[in-house]
Amino acid sequence: MPDIRLEGLTKEFKEMVAVDHIDLTIEEGEFFSLLGPSGCGKTTTLRMIGGFEDPTEGHIYLGGSEVTGLPPYKRNVNTVFQSYALFPHLNVHDNVAYGLKRKKVAGDEIKSRVHEMLDIVDLPGYEQRRINQLSGGQQQRVALARALVNRPALLLLDEPLGALDLKLRKTMQLELKRIQGDVGITFVYVTHDQEEAMTMSNRIAVMNAGHFEQVGAPQDVYELPATEFVSGFLGASNLLEGEIESVNGPTAKVALELGATVALPADRLPTRQGRIGIGVRPEKIHIQDASAADASSRANAIEAMVRMSTYTGVSTSYECRTSDGSPVVVYVQNLGSSSVSIGAGTRVRLSWDPEHTFAVKRVAKAEDDGDKTATAMEGART
Ligand SMILES: Nc1ncnc2c1ncn2[C@@H]1O[C@H](COP(=O)(O)OP(=O)(O)O)[C@@H](O)[C@H]1O
Ligand SMILES: [Mg+2]
Repeated sequence: MPDIRLEGLTKEFKEMVAVDHIDLTIEEGEFFSLLGPSGCGKTTTLRMIGGFEDPTEGHIYLGGSEVTGLPPYKRNVNTVFQSYALFPHLNVHDNVAYGLKRKKVAGDEIKSRVHEMLDIVDLPGYEQRRINQLSGGQQQRVALARALVNRPALLLLDEPLGALDLKLRKTMQLELKRIQGDVGITFVYVTHDQEEAMTMSNRIAVMNAGHFEQVGAPQDVYELPATEFVSGFLGASNLLEGEIESVNGPTAKVALELGATVALPADRLPTRQGRIGIGVRPEKIHIQDASAADASSRANAIEAMVRMSTYTGVSTSYECRTSDGSPVVVYVQNLGSSSVSIGAGTRVRLSWDPEHTFAVKRVAKAEDDGDKTATAMEGART
């Protein structure tokens, strides 16, 4: 049975539509993330699920029953916010026990449930600690324990790691994922950080301007982005302008603006004819000095010139430019000690597998700026 179902969920604030007719089903026990730039409607969606905001239109079902219009306390849901709002004058035990005391749970049971929860969030024996004696990461664990101790069917988390520094955030991402696995509760997690969403989630909804661009497993949205927005938001992407040449059984051929023809699985085409954007992730591209290119190069190939190479330890990144001025970024893993980098100004052959090729709908601006439309965007982060 699905744990959450959203049907045509919409929220309008005065003139603006913050959430625009979204449909979504989340299964029990999923770690599901809403990912998108600031202002795209993530928090509003979460607040509607939690009952803090009434939808303008649409329906919300939790565990099979409609809850649209019910107040938060009538939903079996808890929420963890970025500012975890612990009670600074109470110790850890009393912070975690707060909801249970209000529900008049017996003292012994409170004690054992708080104890058990502090074990789960890896703060065993911290009952008597004061909140201001804890680090940011420890405070976040207390906030999590406080939400989970009520045994909600569903936990909503709105950028809960936003206040932590990068290193701690990375540790807590893995911790949260482990905790979710241990307690088995459905998590709906809001973040604008694509790496965070990919690290933790079973599935991700990539959100933009109030609607979902794509919903899928991390590998799916990364490897096969369905739209230009998704390809640019999740990591770096290379997009080249082209026109569909032929569709023959399972294989499609696309004539790129810059001259070459590339192949890809036909079921990746968003349309059967006309102009499209052809994409390939930087780490999927094989780069070779054009004068020394050999037969090991993959089936799809273009020529380019290296503009800059940057050694980053694990990998080297090459910023290339095609003959029509399109930027293409290539990442090469530095596997051996003999990794020799290709210098700026070198003519190179860039090749990749048809299987690693994706296609997105072309955006309308094609006509005025046809030869400069390829993009190599770093994930837009806010
Ligand atoms: N209470 C409100 N009144 C008016 N506009 C709001 C309100 N809450 C959110 N918005 C607007 O709705 C849009 C989506 O906001 P939000 O859901 O907070 O985005 P996100 O969490 O993705 O950053 C934004 O443009 C925001 O300014
Ligand atoms: Mg928000």
